Amino acid sequence: VENNDVPIVIIGSGYGGAVSALRLCEAGKKVVLLEMGLNWEKAGIPFSNLLKPGKSSAWLKNKSIAPFMNIFSLTPFTGTLDRLDFDHIKIWVGRGVGGGSLVNGGMAVTPKESYFREVFPDLDAEKFYNYYFPLVQEELKVNVIDEQFLKDCPYYKFTRVGEAEAHKAGFKTIRVPNVYDFKYMEKEFRNEVPRSALNTEVIYGNNHGKNSLDKTYLRKALETGNLEILDLHRVQTIQLNDDKSYTLNVRQTDTSGVMIADKVFHCKKLILSAGTMGTLQLLLQSHAENGFPINEKIGKNWGNNGNFMTGRNWVKPLSGGTGAKQSTIPVGGIDNWDDPEHPFFTEIAPLPMGMDVATSLYLLINRVDKKGEVAYHKASQSLTLNWDESNTAKMRENAQYFIRKMNKANGGTRSHLLFNNGFGADICYHPLGGCVLGEATNEYGKLKDHENLYVLDGSLIPGTIGVNPFVTITAIAEYCIENLIKQKEFA
Ligand code: FDA
Repeated sequence: VENNDVPIVIIGSGYGGAVSALRLCEAGKKVVLLEMGLNWEKAGIPFSNLLKPGKSSAWLKNKSIAPFMNIFSLTPFTGTLDRLDFDHIKIWVGRGVGGGSLVNGGMAVTPKESYFREVFPDLDAEKFYNYYFPLVQEELKVNVIDEQFLKDCPYYKFTRVGEAEAHKAGFKTIRVPNVYDFKYMEKEFRNEVPRSALNTEVIYGNNHGKNSLDKTYLRKALETGNLEILDLHRVQTIQLNDDKSYTLNVRQTDTSGVMIADKVFHCKKLILSAGTMGTLQLLLQSHAENGFPINEKIGKNWGNNGNFMTGRNWVKPLSGGTGAKQSTIPVGGIDNWDDPEHPFFTEIAPLPMGMDVATSLYLLINRVDKKGEVAYHKASQSLTLNWDESNTAKMRENAQYFIRKMNKANGGTRSHLLFNNGFGADICYHPLGGCVLGEATNEYGKLKDHENLYVLDGSLIPGTIGVNPFVTITAIAEYCIENLIKQKEFA
């Protein structure tokens, strides 16, 4: 077994990991980042599009795992998209250097200030809205679609129809910023550059256009010369040593998931950025297997960010369908958050299936009135989730209200084609919480009962933030790492 001694290890290269890496490297610290997924840029393997799922489409599976229409068989490969199946909920996560930024739709939404204040009463909201949110918008290269392009482009008919129908039903719509480079998209449309968003590329990775973390935070961190990224390195368990340092048991694999080497890493400082489910798995599994100390708040205050998918079929009678050609990058949203009875936000989502399926797809984001809890089951070596229909009852009510109102004004039916009963209560893209800031950690993400362990990822957010979460995850990580460095935690 190969032994490695390094001062600082970060586990996971998503938003939390990328922010921590950049700020520590800028401060002159040497950092090793362990990522279980593949470094796609280095490997030079192209991402697959939605219509032809290939190598990048699933994490070591025999069949594709999109939310619907999985008719494709695959040769197992360390793909970008993984799905964790629980009894009442399926959770999709990104794998690879860049984490969720490789697979997500790039929607870069700043939360409503009033809700941010409600979720994080102890944070200085003014500082977040004046400093951290603008900072991460710049670092993540957030931009907005040109209104004239949106109006003229046939690939955005689904958005124009979605917005017109929402207005007719009395709902308010908003423009949604994104990290996809819209100037690039305009060139795609004019056939001046290779197509990505206009070629059904999204949840299996984008070959062009999208400013994922490997193009932003991680690239900048590598440019300092202080960062080493080891891909296809999965941390299996963590141990606490007598001198308060950590030992990590790590398995390196090839792209078919077969073990290449087992390695041991010793580090003084450890940052967990394995994503909500990855970080919880590491903490809870290590606790069960080697008595790793964790506090009683770990696993508690977990939520699906109110994710509830739904759709409408036969969006035809009044609107003439949603278009055969669709960009994969969403730019429209319906904002019903201030309705006291049915508060929700929903993305007007694309459904690029290569033909006009006359279907509108919506990913609703609701409040999470009843939180869940994550635990570890030793016999099956897997996480369990205390979560069932009672947790999503209010979300279903909101979806029902929304679809009824839309259909009444515009025609159409609830989408039985896409989902059983027309509702995808079990679809989750935004797992959050379980290691909540100020509860399981101190005010800057340092784990309680530990001197050298930090959590910086989505698990810090208490289960809900009211919009798509990566802008908030990034901003919280910036806030935490800045203060941890100021407090000389890494000196
Ligand atoms: P993140 O999950 O990004 O990264 C964790 C990394 O750790 C992964 O790369 C993983 O492989 C690695 N890892 C885990 N365990 C490990 C271990 N034991 N050893 C080594 N490495 C390990 N959000 C948004 O704001 N706008 C959007 O449009 C979308 N759209 C969207 C679509 C889809 C399909 C998904 C699945 C998700 C979204 N999201 C989204 C959600 C967003 O992508 C998500 O909230 C963030 O990526 C979470 O960031 P984290 O830093 O918490 O972890």
